[in-house]
Amino acid sequence: MSPGLCAAAVNQECVEDGATVLVFVAVYERTTQKYSERGVRHVHMEVGHAAQNVYLQAVSLGLGAVVVGAFDDDEVERLLQMEDDEWALCIMPVGGVSFFS
Ligand SMILES: Cc1cc2nc3c(=O)[nH]c(=O)nc-3n(C[C@H](O)[C@H](O)[C@H](O)COP(=O)(O)O)c2cc1C
Repeated sequence: MSPGLCAAAVNQECVEDGATVLVFVAVYERTTQKYSERGVRHVHMEVGHAAQNVYLQAVSLGLGAVVVGAFDDDEVERLLQMEDDEWALCIMPVGGVSFFS
C-alpha cells in the first residue's frame, strides 16, 4: 500500500500490506485553547476511542486492523505533507485478516 509509510514505521509489514492505512492526526491547539493543558489528555483519549471504533467496525466486516505507534514522526509528517500544528498519533492499517496473522 505505502512503502514509504512502511519504512517510516520501522518497516512493519502490516503498514505496507493493509488494504488501507489510516493515520490519526491531532491538532492539539484546537482542544487546549478550550481545556488548557488538560486538553492534551482529551486528545489522547479521543484518538484511543476513534481507533477502538475502527477495530469494532473492522471486526464487524470480517477485517483485521492493528494500531501502530512505532514510527518516525518527522518522516510521517513529511510524507503526509502535514502542517506544523498537526501531529500524527497512530497509524492503523486495515485489511483482510490474513495480512495480520
Ligand atoms: C498505542 C499503541 C501502539 C502500538 N504500537 C504497535 C506497533 O508499533 N507495532 C506493533 O506490532 N504493535 C503495536 N501495538 C500493539 C498492537 O496494536 C496490538 O495491540 C498487539 O499486536 C496485540 O494484538 P493481538 O492481541 O492481536 O496479538 C500498539 C498498541 C497500542 C495500544
